[in-house]
Amino acid sequence: MDLEQCINNRRSIRKYSTKQVTKEDIIKLIEAAQKAPSWKNSQVSRYYVINTPENKEKFLNFLPEFNKNNVKDAPAIIVSTIVKNRSGFERDGSYSTHLKEGFQYFDNGLQVQNLCLEAYNLGLGTLIMGIYDEKEIRTFLNIPEEQEIVAIIGVGYPDITPEMPKRKDIAEIISFI
Ligand SMILES: Cc1cc2nc3c(=O)[nH]c(=O)nc-3n(C[C@H](O)[C@H](O)[C@H](O)COP(=O)(O)O)c2cc1C
Repeated sequence: MDLEQCINNRRSIRKYSTKQVTKEDIIKLIEAAQKAPSWKNSQVSRYYVINTPENKEKFLNFLPEFNKNNVKDAPAIIVSTIVKNRSGFERDGSYSTHLKEGFQYFDNGLQVQNLCLEAYNLGLGTLIMGIYDEKEIRTFLNIPEEQEIVAIIGVGYPDITPEMPKRKDIAEIISFI
């Protein structure tokens, strides 16, 4: 599949079939994520994969009702975290730029987009979720203090083909100087 097709047709999927996603495919998604650029090649993103029915059932309780409903049939959920205070930081712990701690989230976003595009390429759907119970997830997955949870991503075979939500007119977002 060509890149343009992936960019144009990837959608946030809020209804999944229960068909399993193989471990091999999950690894492919994370390999694609890891190829994204990062601050000084610091690669601060980490991934926790919930892919057994029992653990997924428990995990759904850490999502608000609307997100729980969105991914209730998705067979896999990926928790994306970052190792804090590396990307965008100097060795002495000070910020490298005016963006302060922003580059660690920037890097993670690049990785997650690669993951979502590769998922589309493999026939899978994804849903990035930004609203979840951080404390419960941290405890459930035993995530260490030096990591921060950034996003939860539902992964599975889509059971719908949504239209692209309207994008702003290009003239609104671009300035040629
Ligand atoms: C950081 C981030 C957080 C998001 N959180 C949620 C969420 O909690 N629940 C949800 O249904 N969609 C969530 N989305 C999906 C967006 O609503 C979606 O990407 C947007 O409407 C554009 O649609 P598209 O992804 O199909 O192009 C999130 C997307 C991003 C990038």
